[in-house]
Amino acid sequence: MIYKKITKAILPVAGLGTRFLPATKAIPKEMLTVVDKPLIQYIVHEAAEAGITDIILVTHSSKNAIENHFDKHYELETELQLRGKEERLIPIQEITPEGVRIVSVRQPEALGLGHAILCAEPVIASDEPFAVLLPDVLMHHSKKGCLAQMVDFYEKVHTSVIALEAVPEDQVEKYGIAEINGADMRISSLVEKPKKEDAPSNLSVVGRYIFTPRLMQLLKVTKPGAGGEIQLTDAMDRLLDEEVMFGFEFKDGKSYDCGDKQGFLQANIEYALRDPKLGADFKEYLKSLDVDSI
Ligand code: G1P
Repeated sequence: MIYKKITKAILPVAGLGTRFLPATKAIPKEMLTVVDKPLIQYIVHEAAEAGITDIILVTHSSKNAIENHFDKHYELETELQLRGKEERLIPIQEITPEGVRIVSVRQPEALGLGHAILCAEPVIASDEPFAVLLPDVLMHHSKKGCLAQMVDFYEKVHTSVIALEAVPEDQVEKYGIAEINGADMRISSLVEKPKKEDAPSNLSVVGRYIFTPRLMQLLKVTKPGAGGEIQLTDAMDRLLDEEVMFGFEFKDGKSYDCGDKQGFLQANIEYALRDPKLGADFKEYLKSLDVDSI
């Protein structure tokens, strides 16, 4: 493959978020907040930090709030300006990172994650590599974002790179699981949501991917798999027959699976503790809690 820089990222946001009902009846799950920002904003900023200039939202008619969040709200901005509320205006103007364009395509039917990615095909050139970020997963970092670290790695290997993370064995049924061959983290096989006894390892696919253009072609011929859905993991497993694919372990950071209530609550507590304005007082409050009496 001829090497090309990664500038586009696909964010599948069409899912109905049933795990968070009733909260997500009228609000997209990607708009649930961690401290003071919706999940999707963290993801868009992680992509921008990695050099992404074009974000492609694969969305659904019920989820316009996501597009609205990244659009300019002229009346609100003018009002805040008139009232001299600069400190409230700046965070609004920083929602969409500088130099980033956000476009959307629709996924008309919930046919699976693989199908969602395929819906972005019209806006990705046939020879263009691309990133995928799943908005359920927050990646906190102290030095460099997860996708930015993956892009650095991709620029050395010029092939697909998939973020992996070890999970407890009783959790493998919730994730795509990778089998690794050798110390350089070459992936030898992938399986979506295997039973504990069938899992080739405990290395889970975390929700950050960099793909060569071939993946899109393979998605077109991928048949429904686990759960009757067109699975991204199945197309990736087929790609392994043709190309080398590397696993990537996120360093200097921590992931939060916010598609799950536990992970979402943990993210809120830990992001609040790290918040420069709220952190110190919030820590004192947590320390003062007699958790057994609540
Ligand atoms: C999706 C992917 C799975 C991956 C997971 C990460 O599953 O299909 O391979 O491990 O995201 O969160 P979902 O959570 O949509 O069921």
